[in-house]
Amino acid sequence: MGAHPGLALILGTARRLFRARLHAVEAAGPTLLDRPPTPKPTVKWRILAPARARAALLWRLVPCDDPGSIRPPAPPTAVIPSHTRATAASPPPHPSGARPPVIPADRMPRHVAVIMDGNGRWATERGQPCHQGHRAGASAAKDVIHGALEIGLPYLTLYAFSSESWKRDAEEIATLFELLRQEINGKKDPDHDVRVRWAGSAEGLPEDLVEELLSAERNSRHRTALTLTMCVNYGGRAELAHAAQQLLHATRSGDLPPGTVHEQDLAQHLTLAHAPDVDLLWRPGGERRISNFLLCHSAYAELHFTDTLWPDVDRRDLWQAITEYGSRRRRFGAEAAQAHARAGSAPSGMGGRV
Ligand code: IPE
Ligand code: IPE
Ligand code: MG
Repeated sequence: MGAHPGLALILGTARRLFRARLHAVEAAGPTLLDRPPTPKPTVKWRILAPARARAALLWRLVPCDDPGSIRPPAPPTAVIPSHTRATAASPPPHPSGARPPVIPADRMPRHVAVIMDGNGRWATERGQPCHQGHRAGASAAKDVIHGALEIGLPYLTLYAFSSESWKRDAEEIATLFELLRQEINGKKDPDHDVRVRWAGSAEGLPEDLVEELLSAERNSRHRTALTLTMCVNYGGRAELAHAAQQLLHATRSGDLPPGTVHEQDLAQHLTLAHAPDVDLLWRPGGERRISNFLLCHSAYAELHFTDTLWPDVDRRDLWQAITEYGSRRRRFGAEAAQAHARAGSAPSGMGGRV
């Protein structure tokens, strides 16, 4: 904790080299009496080559003099000083000076969910490695969060790493986790009035990333303006399977009478139970699919697809998406006229606790 992540890599590599040496001792048998055991050059190469590549990447991504890379121990969370609320900083304005449009309250979505897509293509178009695309994507995310605060959006959910993203190259995954760790670490951003939530599974994630996500949740739980849910190692089907398992436990333990599972029971066991239904699901990057994202919460979402690659997106695109949403006519299965009369009183849907 608090040390440069490269140190963990060095220690891990030393441990693997030592183990290779022990194997060499084991394999040497009686020849040990004549010469010292050395692991085969191919064995050493298999350990050292990827370690060197990862070390180079890590040191590039997390410079030693970068104060944001040093994670301080989590501050105590039991008592929240009252001044914390008052000191929440306003987001910096967009460099162009653009201001958010004024959206009538009944045309404003409560919950916008975003599939941040196109980092890889953005990097490829520039002849850069994919981690540059992810880095640029992280800046875009920051700007969009500022835009969400400026326009007064209460819930923003970002898809950062899906349960299918494990199919990516190991080095790319390591880069993504490192960037996420840096972004989630509150030190990098001024103390905005943003409550961070995490949706996803801890399984397979590096421990320090899980710690970072949990401490961001703890440290921001008193904030109220915007609830930012980071979907990390999240999959819509996995979320449903998990909820089903919880319901099974509840019926077995007698907390829930068997044969009476209602939508609201399911809703309470979803990882996104803290958020209302998604009003607007936006996917930049040119693809027209939802890629296993928020299957339940998006049941009645308005879909918005744009072609701009995520790293080129900024808060003005979010405002444009929200403006366009304002012109949609939502029906929720009712007649057009009835639905119009109900505008602004949409059902809270799966987000049962909201
Ligand atoms: C999205 O961009 C990256 C994540 C947030 C994981 P991609 O890496 O999928 O970019 P493309 O689709 O390959 O361009
Ligand atoms: C969706 O993007 C997942 C995230 C943004 C984390 P992908 O690029 O992984 O989705 P597919 O593979 O194109 O459907
Ligand atoms: Mg993609």
